Amino acid sequence: MRIDIVTLFPELCDSFLHASILGRAADKGLFEAHCHQIRDYTKNKQKQTDDYPYGGGCGMVLYAQPIADCIRAVQAQCAEQGRPRPHVAFLTAAGAPYNEQTARRLATYDSLILVCGHYEGIDERVIEAFGDEEISIGDYVLTGGELASLVVADSVLRLQPGVLAEEKGYQEESYWDGLIEYPQYTRPEVWEGRAVPPVLLTGDHDKIDAWRGKQSRARTRARRPDLYDRWCRTHPLTPPSWK
Ligand code: ADE
Repeated sequence: MRIDIVTLFPELCDSFLHASILGRAADKGLFEAHCHQIRDYTKNKQKQTDDYPYGGGCGMVLYAQPIADCIRAVQAQCAEQGRPRPHVAFLTAAGAPYNEQTARRLATYDSLILVCGHYEGIDERVIEAFGDEEISIGDYVLTGGELASLVVADSVLRLQPGVLAEEKGYQEESYWDGLIEYPQYTRPEVWEGRAVPPVLLTGDHDKIDAWRGKQSRARTRARRPDLYDRWCRTHPLTPPSWK
């Protein structure tokens, strides 16, 4: 997979995508990630990227032209590599709410362009012309789309085969099956008077799986009743004693 981030802060995004687990996966060639400076595509002398909004109001709005030209440049690079047309998502507070289901869908594209807004917004016409979708990572407003694009890139790239050490890793984690993950413990067995739940020390994997399932369901019910209701509806054959 190839991910391209279009942003005013490419260094910030690049250092995240090339560190830790993702960095090792990129080094192994499991994906390609590139970050592009919108300012490099401006056509005015001052390299200005934004301007006052028509109609008035506070804040500045990013010009359509440099974003469009940057996307076109990435599209051309993808075509040169023989890749299909990249899917384009704009990160804005006005987008559709992001979740694991969207991550799994985005992970199926060969190439993905993530466009970060900044200041008050992006000229709507470039979103209309190039955007396949608009994504929000939550009901709060960030100063820019950079963190949001990294949230999307991280959650999509970890789903690429080979990125996580164990393939099972991502299936066991929260939201994979619509439930929150069970609690985890490591050494020592007793820390500051708190003992690890004894079942985890038995070596009986049927019992451990049953305990973990119960913990997941109980946590989801308490913390995320919305997810729990959906899970109950999609698992109608679950014994009542489990719910
Ligand atoms: N830009 C500003 N706020 C955002 C949000 N919540 N999600 C995505 N992009 C944003």
